[in-house]
Amino acid sequence: MTEAPKWLVAGNWKMNGLKGDLGELASLAEKVGPELAGIVDVAICPPSTLVMAAAETANGSGVAIGGQDCHTATSGAFTGDVSAEMLVEAGAKYIIVGHSERRDAYSESDETVRAKAEAVLGAGADPIICVGETLAEREGGDTLDVISKQIAGSTPTTAKNGRLVIAYEPVWAIGTGLTPTLEQIEEVHTAIRAQLVAQFGVDGESIRILYGGSMKPDNAAEILKVRDVNGGLVGGASLKADSFFAIVTAVQGA
Ligand code: PGA
Repeated sequence: MTEAPKWLVAGNWKMNGLKGDLGELASLAEKVGPELAGIVDVAICPPSTLVMAAAETANGSGVAIGGQDCHTATSGAFTGDVSAEMLVEAGAKYIIVGHSERRDAYSESDETVRAKAEAVLGAGADPIICVGETLAEREGGDTLDVISKQIAGSTPTTAKNGRLVIAYEPVWAIGTGLTPTLEQIEEVHTAIRAQLVAQFGVDGESIRILYGGSMKPDNAAEILKVRDVNGGLVGGASLKADSFFAIVTAVQGA
């Protein structure tokens, strides 16, 4: 059996955060000491406007900075968009792509998400590719089919030595306080792992599969113990250093 990949706990601030909120990042950066950083990669993905200042704030600490989305192209006439290259230059090490809020509100297809993930790899950052079923799809018994199709359609053709990250985020669990049962999480993560290994061979073993959707300090420890859960993508609970740090430290008991 291959060794489990290093933990990754990433915070997604979504459209929240002004300069003054970098104080939360500074206090998180102070808390993540070298020992913890040795076992878990920690990242905060603030809005694009804060990426550069956040990278300065977290510089030299165990906290990396990420972006929340990018365009598929490197540059061009795309008013309002940012490219992966721009985010990387500003200090992003990860870029989230295909979040369900973007798949839904901006009708992003699997093909678009794949092109974005390729752009992220091309720019030298690691894409965090989000997948997840709606409540209707879960209730219709279609969860595994939906996820499998999203993985097949949204992942690049090469895994670049495990530099991809997958985040399983059931749409109905995001921002709702609802979470799947541990058995449901395990079923999906195990299926994703099998698909990644079938698709990428041994590289598929080293791809981190994060769970996301109402992850909180009080449920993180049990979720992180589930087989093939290699970390978390955290929305609401990442906005405050204390609650996010409590999730990060939960990897120690998992
Ligand atoms: P949540 O969001 O933790 O607030 O549910 C997770 C996400 O959307 O990444």
